[in-house]
Amino acid sequence: MPVEPMLQTSGLRKYFGGVKAVDGVSFSMTGGERLFIVGPNGAGKTTLVNLISGYIIPDSGTIIFEGRDVTRLNLTGKVRAGIARSFQLVNVFWSLTVLENLLIAVASRLRVNINMVRGLESYKEILEEALELAELSGLTEVLEKKPTEISQGDRKLLDIAITLALKPKLVMLDEPTSGVATREKFEVMNRVLKALDKLGATSIIVEHDMEIVKRYADRVLVMQEGKNIGEGAPSDILSREDVRRVLLGGAYA
Ligand SMILES: Nc1ncnc2c1ncn2[C@@H]1O[C@H](COP(=O)(O)OP(=O)(O)O)[C@@H](O)[C@H]1O
Ligand SMILES: [Mg+2]
Repeated sequence: MPVEPMLQTSGLRKYFGGVKAVDGVSFSMTGGERLFIVGPNGAGKTTLVNLISGYIIPDSGTIIFEGRDVTRLNLTGKVRAGIARSFQLVNVFWSLTVLENLLIAVASRLRVNINMVRGLESYKEILEEALELAELSGLTEVLEKKPTEISQGDRKLLDIAITLALKPKLVMLDEPTSGVATREKFEVMNRVLKALDKLGATSIIVEHDMEIVKRYADRVLVMQEGKNIGEGAPSDILSREDVRRVLLGGAYA
């Protein structure tokens, strides 16, 4: 029996004036899959993530998630449907500690004000969940530190843990290792994927480091000029001659 896809986009399109940022992208993925999106700068990867996460609404095309048409849902609607993305550190409160950031993230999913429930039973539950997220993301040792006082890798993990506090079924990460020192990249990615696996989340990850892609992808989708030019297992798709040329012509040389 064919497995129903978890996510299916058809003819997804978003133009910015004359720029065809996403130009008719169709793809699908099944639950539990780890899909990496690659392509040169300006290929439309971030715009595609923005469309699926509801940050921007497509000009045309459809997004079906778990059998439901979610094309026109905004960010909040998408989060309620089970789709969430990390926002490259914009959701981090810089003046608060790592633990406080996680507490607020869990509380906001539950739609309670963390300061109103201190001392109550629900605070204990929120604290427990925040600590569990910290554990999953390997942040236990920096709980009392501020985001400015931890490594860039830990900061990325905090950002992702804040997203995971929303309990999404589908998580989208846009270049989670960007700005992380090369020697730290694999460690960051290991921790990210361990957390995603433990939570049973399906993931879409934009990544430009091909060593990371080869090591961690179940499947790879290649974008060029707003289009899906191919998808498949990393070893197959990344050895395709035209794909190699596209990736080398971009920021990968
Ligand atoms: N908000 C926007 N307004 C105008 N042009 C945009 C906007 N967002 C993206 N673009 C353009 O769309 C194209 C795709 O961008 P983007 O999705 O960021 O690519 P990638 O993430 O693959 O580098 C680029 O030409 C970019 O300049
Ligand atoms: Mg981008």
